[in-house]
Amino acid sequence: KGKRAFIAGVADDNGYGWAIAKSLAAAGAEILVGTWVPALNIFESSLRRGKFDDSRILPDGSLMEITKVYPLDAVFDNPEDVPEDIKANKRYAGSSNWTVQEVAESVKKDFGNIDILVHSLANGPEVIKPLLETSRRGYLAALSASSYSYVSLLKHFVPIMNPGGSSISLTYIASERIIPGYGGGMSSAKAALESDTRVLAFEAGRKHKIRVNTISAGPLRSRAAKAIGFIDMMIDYSLANAPLQKELSAEEVGNTAAFLASPLASAITGACYIR
Ligand code: NAI
Repeated sequence: KGKRAFIAGVADDNGYGWAIAKSLAAAGAEILVGTWVPALNIFESSLRRGKFDDSRILPDGSLMEITKVYPLDAVFDNPEDVPEDIKANKRYAGSSNWTVQEVAESVKKDFGNIDILVHSLANGPEVIKPLLETSRRGYLAALSASSYSYVSLLKHFVPIMNPGGSSISLTYIASERIIPGYGGGMSSAKAALESDTRVLAFEAGRKHKIRVNTISAGPLRSRAAKAIGFIDMMIDYSLANAPLQKELSAEEVGNTAAFLASPLASAITGACYIR
């Protein structure tokens, strides 16, 4: 039987989440996505209006189907966590059940279980500031949206993941090496994500036979990356210095994720894959 995947962090067809969805769909998986609440309306209407149809084409010529789009804000674990101003915000008030716990409950109600969990989201409100100028609030917000969001997703989804399931996140080399410009505590957030990958691999492996890996991806001109401001420089740098002198495609990261989610990777866990 085909596998079912939940991919958190898809809001257009330019990012890694979309590419991972496509590679998993091409391998026969059923696709569910979690879309950041403020981006939900535009994503769903673009999907409906066929704006992504060209990017939905799979290698066999068919179109990727997204079975269901769930609104999600991964910085909130349950309704008690949501502050009044967010509750009252028009963009949020129009959707419901978008905290991590509620999304996991909804997926359980709709489908019973999943096999693959993908975390393809990050946010650092002060990313353009050097670490030395980052506020406590900005730093903690980066960790909350980019690192703890993964702990929380896995924690809430593990109970509905089939044994042998696989979980994948996306990280960036600024966790290990200094990359000037990747500020606001985002380098710290990626370091936490990578360390957590090892700890979560141990815990989820022992408890539920779930594998946990992260992919340290090369630079891609996604919406999030453009907001950081130096993405073209990073692409040029990789082109000049990487062993394979070609621009990385999102599809190549998608295929790495599909491999890690497949039985071909059945003994690979706690790893950081560099692509
Ligand atoms: P993207 O813009 O396609 O994806 C980021 C997504 O996170 C967006 O859909 C956004 O709506 C969502 N998001 C932000 N805050 C959220 C929240 N609180 N709850 C739910 N969703 C939220 O950009 P990209 O670049 O594909 O990012 C995906 C992952 O890949 C991120 O973890 C990023 O750090 C990582 N990555 C990206 C690289 C690049 O060069 N683009 C390089 C290495 C890693």
